[in-house]
Amino acid sequence: MDTAPITVFGGTGFLGRRLVTALLQRGHAVRLAARRPERVRFHDETRLERRVADVTDDRQVAAAVAGSRTVVNAVSLYAEQGDLTFRAIHVESAERVALAARRARVPRLLHLSGIGVSDLSPSPYVRARAQGEMAVRETCPGATLVRPASMFGAGDALVRALATLSRLPVLPLFGRGRTCLQPVWVQDVAGGLATLATWPGAPAPLYELAGGEVLRYRDMVVAVRDYLGRRGPTLPLPFEAWHLMAAVARRLPGAPLTRDQVFLMEEDNVAAPDVPGFIELDRRPRGFREGLPDCLGPRPR
Ligand SMILES: NC(=O)c1ccc[n+]([C@@H]2O[C@H](COP(=O)([O-])OP(=O)(O)OC[C@H]3O[C@@H](n4cnc5c(N)ncnc54)[C@H](OP(=O)(O)O)[C@@H]3O)[C@@H](O)[C@H]2O)c1
Repeated sequence: MDTAPITVFGGTGFLGRRLVTALLQRGHAVRLAARRPERVRFHDETRLERRVADVTDDRQVAAAVAGSRTVVNAVSLYAEQGDLTFRAIHVESAERVALAARRARVPRLLHLSGIGVSDLSPSPYVRARAQGEMAVRETCPGATLVRPASMFGAGDALVRALATLSRLPVLPLFGRGRTCLQPVWVQDVAGGLATLATWPGAPAPLYELAGGEVLRYRDMVVAVRDYLGRRGPTLPLPFEAWHLMAAVARRLPGAPLTRDQVFLMEEDNVAAPDVPGFIELDRRPRGFREGLPDCLGPRPR
């Protein structure tokens, strides 16, 4: 087995820590790069190396990348704060990691993005992700872009938010709740990435990793409500109302709702049929309902 490390930027995150776990379990050496790499503990840390690396810092990024067999960029920023803008993280830092990987002659770079990214989106977040993909592709033409759908799993933001909503006497919907989604279990994405990180041949330039079930937003909300044994009617709410609420919510601690999330809910978010995905990675991803016990625990009696 190759002893050079697989470097995971964002290895303490929701996805990153599962990827690090999957790689360690498969016996690979892993270098976890983050601003606070000590934040997460793993079952067996024998082959784990931690590196303090801020992706906005050229020197730290170059040091973290040196000698790697694969680099994975799973860094994220969902709400801008001061100098930490979408452009700084998703475009400039994505390019910085790609440039460092190219200069260090790292054989493989996996760059995380998201299904539905578009340079034409009204969402600054979605536009920055698209520009980040382009910057990575121009800097490192052999890089592989990996776009997950919305991820769910233990401790996620998605199902937790739906569970909170299900406590209300009426369930508010984004619009009529007709947006089609294909949420993906975070462990499936981590497993797929671990496979790609060590794939013997050349991976495809782009993968879209989506879950085993396409469902409308309304059906997701109702699935969570039913799972928790709660009742209550749904209430369609126009997107304009959600944008207004998001404008207020962004001033609250932790920005519980952002305008970018509302923009994302206005468009279907499913994998393109002609783009490689889990089938090519020989993995059957879980469906949303199948994954609920992992997020919500056993069904209440
Ligand atoms: N979650 C989803 O539903 C979803 C859906 C589609 C695509 N994605 C994409 O999947 C990837 C992972 O998302 P996630 O939800 O797992 O993110 P996350 O939980 O927010 O984790 C973000 C990670 O990035 C690190 N990080 C943030 N700023 C950094 C910086 N300046 N320098 C170095 N590291 C930094 C964080 O660690 P420190 O704070 O310690 O630095 C953390 O490890 C992202 O590219 C995201 O856009 C996520």
